[in-house]
Amino acid sequence: MKLTKDDLILRKKTGPKITMLTSYDFPTAQLLDKCSIDVQLIGDSVGTNMLGYTDVSMVTVSDIVHHLKAVARGAKNSFVLGDMPFGSFKTKELALKNARLFINDGADGVKIETENESIDKISHVTANGIPVCAHIGYTPQTPGLTASVQGKDIKRATELLTLAKASEEAGAFMIVLELIPEKLSKLITEALSIPTIGIGAGRYCDGQVQVILDIFGFSEKIFRHAKKYADASQIFSDAITHYISDVQNGYFPTEKNSSTIPEEVIKQVLLQPDKDKPA
Ligand code: KIV
Repeated sequence: MKLTKDDLILRKKTGPKITMLTSYDFPTAQLLDKCSIDVQLIGDSVGTNMLGYTDVSMVTVSDIVHHLKAVARGAKNSFVLGDMPFGSFKTKELALKNARLFINDGADGVKIETENESIDKISHVTANGIPVCAHIGYTPQTPGLTASVQGKDIKRATELLTLAKASEEAGAFMIVLELIPEKLSKLITEALSIPTIGIGAGRYCDGQVQVILDIFGFSEKIFRHAKKYADASQIFSDAITHYISDVQNGYFPTEKNSSTIPEEVIKQVLLQPDKDKPA
């Protein structure tokens, strides 16, 4: 059965912890669904992970829509969350227009990177009935912000707590905490009645999210906040190398991979005048 935002909110009280992974294509969406992942996030990380972009700000609304549609076709039970890319929620009106586009293309909710300027956009989108997941801490779309732990000093830590509470007040049903010290994310988690989903935010969040290529072992860099659960890169490259070798050495395809035709048909084909031969 399709998971709803209310099911996710309830999990803060009842457990188990919410599981979220990024998802960018149809076969992966089917696989994640089969494994009963709770949330599939079409993150703007699609840009650097799947499209070869050098920066997250290059991701467009059309990029997300393209991948979102594929994921939505495969995710029958998971909650599908579409990430609003850089520039897609500059004004309240634009935020609602793009959020509606995502919902019409199969998203169950949208994620909005959250600084002070995002709060009125979150209010406007949620007031129009669209579930919004906020995202605080390290927010990759913020120009000039480097990938580092946020909220280590009193000023930023207080700002993040205030921002988290403002997101909940604005109607967000869930919030991602990215690269936040464990004790601060625990404090934020306890201060909110909506679930927190951590990435590099320690053990006490109500759920966790990871970039799927990191857990598969496809990413070249291993981040401190990530765990490599498989060496899929090695498994895939072994398969590709084996295929190349089989084709070049005549081991693939075999008779079993081929289809047959009656000998008589072949004879008749050879007797036919060659009508298509160029004059
Ligand atoms: O785009 C993304 O993958 C994300 C997650 C890291 C939360 O925003």
